[in-house]
Amino acid sequence: MTRSALERAGIKSRTDGIADRARRIVVSPIKEIAILAAEIPDVIPFAWGIPFVDTPPHIREALKKALDEDHLLGRYSPSAGLPVLKQALAARLAKKFGIEVNWKTELLVTAGAMEGLMDAMQCTINPGDEVIITSPGFSSYTEQVMLAGGVPKYLPLDENKDWAMRLEELPKLITPKTRAIIINSPCNPTGSIFSQQELDAIADAVLKHNLILITDEPYDFLLFDGTKLSTLVADDRLRKNRISCFSFSKEYAMTGYRVGYVFAEEGMIRQMMKVHDAFIVSAPRPSQVAALAAINGPQACVEELRKTLQDRRDRLCSHLDRMKKWFSYVKPRGTYYCFVKFQDGSADDVQLALDILNGAHISVVPGSAFGPEGKGHLRICFGCTIPEIDEGMGRLENWLKKAYP
Ligand SMILES: Cc1ncc(COP(=O)(O)O)c(C=O)c1O
Repeated sequence: MTRSALERAGIKSRTDGIADRARRIVVSPIKEIAILAAEIPDVIPFAWGIPFVDTPPHIREALKKALDEDHLLGRYSPSAGLPVLKQALAARLAKKFGIEVNWKTELLVTAGAMEGLMDAMQCTINPGDEVIITSPGFSSYTEQVMLAGGVPKYLPLDENKDWAMRLEELPKLITPKTRAIIINSPCNPTGSIFSQQELDAIADAVLKHNLILITDEPYDFLLFDGTKLSTLVADDRLRKNRISCFSFSKEYAMTGYRVGYVFAEEGMIRQMMKVHDAFIVSAPRPSQVAALAAINGPQACVEELRKTLQDRRDRLCSHLDRMKKWFSYVKPRGTYYCFVKFQDGSADDVQLALDILNGAHISVVPGSAFGPEGKGHLRICFGCTIPEIDEGMGRLENWLKKAYP
């Protein structure tokens, strides 16, 4: 059966004249649902991971000023990024993780973490190589691995243990074809946070088999209830094996700016530069100026956003607790996603998400988009406002009462 929600909704794509690499993949079901939702008026958006807050004023002001005063703003930037931004990023990584980063050779400014991930995979995966990703895990990894000619292999997470990694499965997944492991913590879509013990087990496997570790860090600021971040970004043993992809999208509510950065060792960055240049030449210069303002400016906005999202999580969970007849879930400890199981987990989640969209006018993402363990689940993003959460969950409950009495 197709992985595409658009195809399931009857929208077919052309196939003649289209290369296998494009035919094999789908638009990430997160965006597929958003595309379908755009056709229906009044849909409450629980699908796409967007923090529904404005970009902080100091970032917008800096961009306005640059539009008026920086005559270079409309030009390409140096391909690896503006030197002044890279210097600030190196200082930021030093402060946050206590690591030394050579801003000239070990950083690449990208069009979001997404481009960093793409560059990383294009640089390291040969056709037929296997790449381990968690299941559930971010849906775009599957498409990016496949675009590079690789084969995704899923490391299952255990819903009964707060979505911890089933590490006993890891040795069985590693074969002579294994090339890379992708880790994302806090994890989209589960909202779980991997422990240092789990991450260290991944690091050990990476080093033992000389694999590439790709860490994807867009939510490294977004932890709830005082939970502390465990990370592999600061593990010096991994210096040669690791590519870390960071983002401004969520932390500074800058999803539309499309800016992020990669930290990796010099030789890897040099290779990634080639792919980066071939794809986009340089990250948008206005967005780099805004990114610099984001990290050099007041940081209270980050904590404010974190608190806002924690409140939104609590509100969503209070609704879900009322709907125990239909949903069970692990309370998210990070990100802004809640990954809920519908009834006994045997439902066709793609059909369920489409039915909910058409029947309740709320958009949620089918869980199977995130790997085999996501079957029968839905991802609900609580980036939207509390009134929207109240309205959307009310609609969902009313719809469920009729559809699944
Ligand atoms: C896990 C994960 N990685 C990467 C991205 C893409 O981030 P960016 O906007 O920086 O490209 C997202 C966006 O939702 C994400 O959830």
